[in-house]
Amino acid sequence: SIDPNFEENREVVDEHEGHDVWGPVDDPERLGIHGTHVAVDFDICLADGACIEDCPVDVFEWVDTPGHPESEIKADPANESQCIDCMICVDVCPVDAIDVDAG
Ligand code: SF4
Ligand code: F3S
Ligand code: ZN
Repeated sequence: SIDPNFEENREVVDEHEGHDVWGPVDDPERLGIHGTHVAVDFDICLADGACIEDCPVDVFEWVDTPGHPESEIKADPANESQCIDCMICVDVCPVDAIDVDAG
C-alpha cells in the first residue's frame, strides 16, 4: 500500500498536469507517486477504476502508462484541488494505492 509518509520519505522529481511527482521514477517500469493532497502510487495502481467511478467531484482521470508492469493505465489525480476529503477513493481502492491528506 502507499506510504502515508511519502512526503518525508520521497522527493519531488517532476511535475505532471499541475501536480507533483514523487520519485523514484524510472520510466516505464517505475512511475512514482502522482499528487500530494490526493496521492496515487502509480507503481501500486492496477487500474481497478473504483476511484474514478466513485469520486463525487471527478478528481481522477485515466492516463496511459504503456510498459508499466501492473497496468497500462493509471488513475491520475488531475483535479486534486477539487477534492472534498470524503475518503471514498481511499476506501474503495482494492490495493490501497491512494492517500488523501485530509489534515
Ligand atoms: Fe474524490 Fe473523495 Fe477521494 Fe477526494 S477523497 S479524491 S473527493 S473520492
Ligand atoms: Fe488504481 Fe485503485 Fe483507482 S487500483 S484505478 S487507484 S481504485
Ligand atoms: Zn499525474
